[in-house]
Amino acid sequence: MTIKPLIILPDPVLRQLSKPVETVDADVRRLADDMLDTMYDAPGIGLAAIQIGIPRQILVIDVSKDGEEKQPLVFINPKVLTTSDEPSVYEEGCLSIPDYYAEVERPAEITVEYIDLEGKKLTAKVDGLLATCLQHEIDHLNGVLFIDHISKLKREMVIRKFTKAAKTRGAKAI
Ligand code: NI
Repeated sequence: MTIKPLIILPDPVLRQLSKPVETVDADVRRLADDMLDTMYDAPGIGLAAIQIGIPRQILVIDVSKDGEEKQPLVFINPKVLTTSDEPSVYEEGCLSIPDYYAEVERPAEITVEYIDLEGKKLTAKVDGLLATCLQHEIDHLNGVLFIDHISKLKREMVIRKFTKAAKTRGAKAI
């Protein structure tokens, strides 16, 4: 069990593009395990590999309710195939933008193609919180953050706040 440090806004690493995984091997499985440990420790309901500084197309998600049995999901090389016209609005947060939440509108239902931890190619039709979370995490693979879906004014405000906090952290470290 390894909990990895999280990359926090405005670190430019978060804007990097993640590369597809070529082979699902022991390294990839170990990385997915570490990502799940890091996500549960935070705690959060989703995490992309780039959030621990690794630009590979791996996501972990668990949208089970508090007190329910854990339902860890791993998506490798996920790709959205179809999206519904019907939208869904959810107040999103992100482990890389701690303690900031904003409403984001996304398609309510999506079909996604991905590879599982056994290297098997699968297709899933999902809705509800899982659909929202998957779209948020897939955005991370393209260097996109949920604050890119809110107004420019709000986005600039949150980036300014986190840039100032990062400078303060830097000053303390000297
Ligand atoms: Ni996020």
